Amino acid sequence: MKPLPPLVNQDASFVSRRVFTDGDVYRREQQRIFARSWLYLAHESELKEKGDFVTGFLGETPVIAARGQDGAIHVSVNSCTHRGLPVCRAERGHAARFICPYHNWTYALDGRLLAVPQQALTHTQIDKGALGLRRVTRVESYRGLVFASLDDGIQPLDQYLGNMRFYLDNYFDRFPGGVQVIGPPHKWRIAANWKLPVENQLGDVGHGPFLHGFIMRNNSATTEINEFGLNVVPEPGHGAAIRLFPEGTDSETVMWGSENGSARMFSAETQAYLREVQDQLAGRLGPVHARIKGLTFGVYPNFSFLWANSVIRVSHPRAPGQVDYWSWWVVPADAPPAVKCELQSLYNASFGPAGLFEQDDSEAWSQQYLGSAIEQLDDQPYFYGLGLGEEQPHPLLPGKVGTSFNEHYARAFYLRWKRDIESAGDDARPDGEAR
Ligand code: FES
Ligand SMILES: [Fe+2]
Repeated sequence: MKPLPPLVNQDASFVSRRVFTDGDVYRREQQRIFARSWLYLAHESELKEKGDFVTGFLGETPVIAARGQDGAIHVSVNSCTHRGLPVCRAERGHAARFICPYHNWTYALDGRLLAVPQQALTHTQIDKGALGLRRVTRVESYRGLVFASLDDGIQPLDQYLGNMRFYLDNYFDRFPGGVQVIGPPHKWRIAANWKLPVENQLGDVGHGPFLHGFIMRNNSATTEINEFGLNVVPEPGHGAAIRLFPEGTDSETVMWGSENGSARMFSAETQAYLREVQDQLAGRLGPVHARIKGLTFGVYPNFSFLWANSVIRVSHPRAPGQVDYWSWWVVPADAPPAVKCELQSLYNASFGPAGLFEQDDSEAWSQQYLGSAIEQLDDQPYFYGLGLGEEQPHPLLPGKVGTSFNEHYARAFYLRWKRDIESAGDDARPDGEAR
């Protein structure tokens, strides 16, 4: 039998199929990536009032994020300290406290244990201070995006995002009234590895006119991508696929991106709203931002944002071949209701769970997973070398920049991924001491 190639080679131009299927790799990802990264949890617009909460996951760890009586966002692991049940089963809502359904142990919004109903029927002294929900101490926001980390020693979120902030600003600081998330996220499961949707949204622009050829083969979005498209790696592991138009490009061309056409397909009211935002953008964010039309963004490890359809995505790993995909619809908070409605329709038709693009992509990721699981091909890694070495610094844009067809976004992601999963982990310590 031939020796197996490394999981990721030196310049990440080859990535093993086992990266997507191996059970040991999956477990190491949980310990060394999901337990040590900043992970997206919620948008501040979902947690406006004291008592507002959402439930979610940090990797496989279930958590509650709640706006406490002190006004801060508190994140606690959603598992009762009595017997482990989730103390909150709702996706979101407004609560004064969380009451576990099994024996009604009762917790405050910040996770403190408040009451043990049957304690009065015994003579037991209970140290409630020691029996609160496990607190997630690191919770930080950027432009309304709330991230949390299970790693108490992680660097501040601002530093973690680094140059990615420039690209996030282009959307999340674009609208004078900010953005809001409407409704709970759509959620669905795909028979694929969690990295496949992530990789796609980091910069796989090249598949557009082929996989989505029925819409994109000859449309204006494809022409723009061919002429002005750039794949940016702001920091290794993060990514931003954008179009950078020449100075003086008209507002209608730049003001909204969509894979199935331009802003000209919208109603007059929506076009007028978007034009006004665009016309103020140079003054608001600077002249370079006014020339950028986004496509897709990614923050390491599992946050994606589809600029062109205004949707936040998170890939929640569940098994090597199972990902729960969560999808939040985002709109400008100050837009008229009809504009929000029109943007929602675009999302539903394109990237909602039954969206035309989403159907194509999900099928491709499932097929890629099946291809990755062919054991006889363990010695045949995937080629990620398109554009190798052509990425360069850019005079106007932070990060390394290549064309839309340069796969450096994936190489940078897998080099960071490899470094992380090869880093020392708790399980590697002979004395079993925590970090
Ligand atoms: S398991 Fe939660 S109160 Fe008993
Ligand atoms: Fe796609």
